[in-house]
Amino acid sequence: MIEAVQLTKTFGDFTAVKDVSFNVGSGKVMALLGHNGAGKTTTTRMLTATLAPTFGYARIAGYDTVKNPQEVRKTIGHLTELPGLYNRMRIEEYLDFFGEVYYVPKNIRKGRAEEMLKQFDLWETRQLKMGEYSKGMRQKAALIRALIHEPKVLFLDEPTSAMDPHSAKMVRDAISQLKQENRAIILCTHNLFEAEALADYITIIRKGEIVIEGTSEQLKRKLLGTPAYTVQLAQAIPTDGLPFELANLVELTQFGTDWFNFTTEEADKVNPILLRRLLDNGFEVVTISQVSRSLESVYLKIAGTPQQNSDSRDEIENSLNKVKKSGKGSSERDQQNQEQVSTEAEEVIR
Ligand SMILES: Nc1ncnc2c1ncn2[C@@H]1O[C@H](COP(=O)(O)OP(=O)(O)O)[C@@H](O)[C@H]1O
Ligand SMILES: [Mg+2]
Repeated sequence: MIEAVQLTKTFGDFTAVKDVSFNVGSGKVMALLGHNGAGKTTTTRMLTATLAPTFGYARIAGYDTVKNPQEVRKTIGHLTELPGLYNRMRIEEYLDFFGEVYYVPKNIRKGRAEEMLKQFDLWETRQLKMGEYSKGMRQKAALIRALIHEPKVLFLDEPTSAMDPHSAKMVRDAISQLKQENRAIILCTHNLFEAEALADYITIIRKGEIVIEGTSEQLKRKLLGTPAYTVQLAQAIPTDGLPFELANLVELTQFGTDWFNFTTEEADKVNPILLRRLLDNGFEVVTISQVSRSLESVYLKIAGTPQQNSDSRDEIENSLNKVKKSGKGSSERDQQNQEQVSTEAEEVIR
């Protein structure tokens, strides 16, 4: 549904996005992660036909973003990073206006607006002018606007950044729901919990380039190594250690009074054997569980810090070169550099 091929954007002699390729299918969420200035918004703007790529191309539901921008805009919903609302309007008028722009019949758009205003807790306050909204309310209003025509493809740029935890959960639940309805979604976020909870694939970009991509589990394996497991026993481990051999089975990494950690490449095979060996030797096992590893540790390892000096950047570069993918397709097109920065309404109408 969303296809990016070697997307590249330069502003003068500065390259904001370089050689970015990926595919996102129906019913999938891809999280685009990266520091401020990494190129997430610029990538999204190329995919939403807001900005023409300098090189490479993108297709949404088969429509080329440069050749068929109108079709692209009809197919997508776009929650921008800093949504501009019409401050003097009330939300119902606003949604009615956008529903009309997208050719949603009057009675259908009215029903949909009411349903979503209730879902996102904006129904009771619908008499307020949007200029009186809090940041979180503005973000929710913009999200509803992006959904009013039930788009098959969604771009959500930092959708919960200004929200309180309750609203953020509401929006995350809505994103899960939209995914189940078979939409293709790109989620730009700084919120690693959100990325992990919602995304099927995670793509981390740094200085405009993809540095690693995969499922959260794949990223953890690539960057944090073999997973570790912890065994919690019902009794203390004797001071001279466990009275039987585990070294030929797993690598023991840490001990406590009544627990130990180990790593193995073959948990499916090894863990049941380990469990039996413990039980056969009179040890009661309370739990055996994988030591949780956060996406945050992956992110910090790969994305570096914005202030990082050039030496550690080289280090990151080295570890990245090991995981970088190769063998991308190639296709050149006429360079079209005119920017189409416009208001959201103009984008749709054009
Ligand atoms: N219209 C523009 N003109 C010049 N530079 C830009 C423009 N838009 C973005 N940039 C630059 O491109 C880089 C990537 O920006 P952006 O895509 O907004 O990053 P992110 O969304 O990941 O924070 C930044 O260094 C930003 O300053
Ligand atoms: Mg951004």
